[in-house]
Amino acid sequence: MNPFKEMPKTEKITYANWSSLAPKPYDKNTTGPYTKTRVILMNGTEFEANWFLHQLNRHCTNNDIRRAAAGVRRQEQQQQKRIAALKPIDETILETTIGYEQLAVDLTAEMAMKEPNPFVKEQLDFALLEDFDHLYRYANLLDMEEGVHAERLVGAYTEITPGRPTVSEHRHPDDDVRRYINNWQDQLITRLHTAIITAAEQQTMNYYMNIGSFYHSDLGRKLYSEIAMIEEQHVTGYGSLMDPSSTWLECWVMHEFTECYLYYSVCADESDPNIKKIWMQHFEEELTHLKIASDLLCKYEGREWNQLFPIADFPSLIKLKSNKEYIRKVMNDVRLTGHKEMTVNINDIPDGAKYFSYQRQVNGSISKVASHNVIDKYIKKNGQDYRFEDKPSAESTLRCRTEDNTVLGREKGK
Ligand SMILES: [Fe+2]
Ligand SMILES: [Fe+2]
Ligand SMILES: [Fe+2]
Ligand SMILES: [Fe+2]
Repeated sequence: MNPFKEMPKTEKITYANWSSLAPKPYDKNTTGPYTKTRVILMNGTEFEANWFLHQLNRHCTNNDIRRAAAGVRRQEQQQQKRIAALKPIDETILETTIGYEQLAVDLTAEMAMKEPNPFVKEQLDFALLEDFDHLYRYANLLDMEEGVHAERLVGAYTEITPGRPTVSEHRHPDDDVRRYINNWQDQLITRLHTAIITAAEQQTMNYYMNIGSFYHSDLGRKLYSEIAMIEEQHVTGYGSLMDPSSTWLECWVMHEFTECYLYYSVCADESDPNIKKIWMQHFEEELTHLKIASDLLCKYEGREWNQLFPIADFPSLIKLKSNKEYIRKVMNDVRLTGHKEMTVNINDIPDGAKYFSYQRQVNGSISKVASHNVIDKYIKKNGQDYRFEDKPSAESTLRCRTEDNTVLGREKGK
């Protein structure tokens, strides 16, 4: 499938009425976990589409382009509203959060397994273990405060067990800025991966940033604050991978191309017939956006789409599925931290590295760290932590269920 060669149904944008923006929400008890995670993924993709086009509007001196962007953006907003309405009212903030972290885990694993650029793959594996740990922390909070077992929500497709402990993930900002890829040398799948994962992490960052203070307990509010700061690090890390030398119009075309690829992917995968119809409708709309953006590129920069995309056929589609064995293998990386552009074993960074001073500043005493306190409190109440594992953790120091490991990946020699 080359979306540039598909004829959009309409060359002009048509706007939807209010009832079309209010589809029937999914049933939280019967809908599969990967349908829920696809809804989160596409919500984040539409947020990115909107936010990008607002930034373009603010950095463009040509009102014809700004009007075209406003027209497309209005439809991106309508798409976002339709997707957001799929979340049912009875799904709690924390239940939705489990979906966010399951998405982060299984989307990242899916990409990492297929990623040809070794540096990008490294970054995916690196952050994967952090979202994996978030899933475990939130799952303990969910059982403790709402009496819900997260294994029911993740459908047993994703293990719930510690990853790189959240307390160890707090790095100095200098250590999250990575090298960037080269759009002319890297493969299309790499460009897509960096764009998709940045938008997905940004959606998670925004969700925690906005929803954390609506949570009903003090401990939970603190956990959202702490994990939101890690999502900020993830957005920094992934966002810095994208080629920053592209023009605004090139970026616009790439955004629309990415949306086409994602809607085509989720449509192929979707089991819920009502939601599948929405994905198909949005795919058609994205073809129109792609045509509008590539026509502008041609008109104002004199460049055809195939100069940007020498190969424009979609690479293998994104498929959300269980990746338990792959994640167990990646657990070998649990002791990695960031050091400038690289990820390195904690044992190999200098004693004076900024990582350690940042850790001292933000964490101070371990008793003040919410991600630890959630587990500590759960253990005191129930005798052991909440987990959902097929077999004991791949990392032997994380097998103890009666004490939270707060030194792994944070102190040398542990
Ligand atoms: Fe869109
Ligand atoms: Fe996360
Ligand atoms: Fe994340
Ligand atoms: Fe679009």
